[in-house]
Amino acid sequence: MTATSSPRLRAGVMGWPVAHSLSPVLHGHWLKRYGIDGSYEAFPVRPEDLAEAISGLRRDGLRGTNLTVPHKEAAMALVDNVDETAQRIGAVNTLFMTPDGTLNATNTDAYGLIENIRAAAPDALEGRFGGKPVVILGAGGAARAAVVGLADIGVSEIRIVNRTVARAESLAGIVSDQDVVVRALDWEKRDEALAGAGLLVNTTTLGMEGQAPLHINLDSLSEAAVVNDIVYAPLETELLSAARARGNPAVDGLGMLLHQARAGFREWFGVDPEVDDDLRNAVLAARG
Ligand code: ATR
Repeated sequence: MTATSSPRLRAGVMGWPVAHSLSPVLHGHWLKRYGIDGSYEAFPVRPEDLAEAISGLRRDGLRGTNLTVPHKEAAMALVDNVDETAQRIGAVNTLFMTPDGTLNATNTDAYGLIENIRAAAPDALEGRFGGKPVVILGAGGAARAAVVGLADIGVSEIRIVNRTVARAESLAGIVSDQDVVVRALDWEKRDEALAGAGLLVNTTTLGMEGQAPLHINLDSLSEAAVVNDIVYAPLETELLSAARARGNPAVDGLGMLLHQARAGFREWFGVDPEVDDDLRNAVLAARG
């Protein structure tokens, strides 16, 4: 291959396995749309090969990569800088090289969650959900990103409801220096936790294809409350259809994947790409 035919800008995603990742489809769509001479590749990297793969980024001239399961925590010790957001979330999903050769790591999930809700329900987001409490179901990695994102936009109270309540309690520590009240609640309290809330976010795997259903009774939730499911397979989860049926604004989870990807694309390829229906349809078609 001659120098002129090789793409100037390279990025990709490292994971194990990585074949299921939708990131090459969405970044490929944007590269084409913006006419950028670049590539975005899937790199299958075993956990034991992660250090070598990350040190190889510089040698191979990559601008950076996304990281997916199981590398999001391990990579933190293998880069030059982990930004404050990623440190609070406790995981990284995006690496980028600065012009001086420093390898930086960040986590774009909190940004993706907030921007997805902003795109679908801008007024509710700007109004901090009426100053009302927000409810997060789950206390895993996605919940950590949700806690950081929601605390940073200035919500007043976060109620974290989780089967293992100790995990919910430990999430409160992430935002202990911020002006937000965090309450950890038992899973059995999930229906009553909805009273007075302005936003409900499901970050558990319940309702996902192949997983158990999410049983929750929305009766005590205000009809003005925004309901967001980060599950996107299926796109219309039972939670979202139940919310829509009673008039709640419902925000699906695909948008979080698409919006979180914007930050990496911006760093690697220099364009803030748009999330629109063409992109959604391309990603949905690839998902099958
Ligand atoms: P991620 O990092 O993607 O958020 P995770 O860390 O595996 O994934 O978290 C999955 C979440 O779904 C957790 O909050 C989990 O509850 P526990 O912390 O008690 O494990 C929740 N979850 C999974 N299966 C569940 C079930 N059957 N009932 C209630 N919660 C469940």
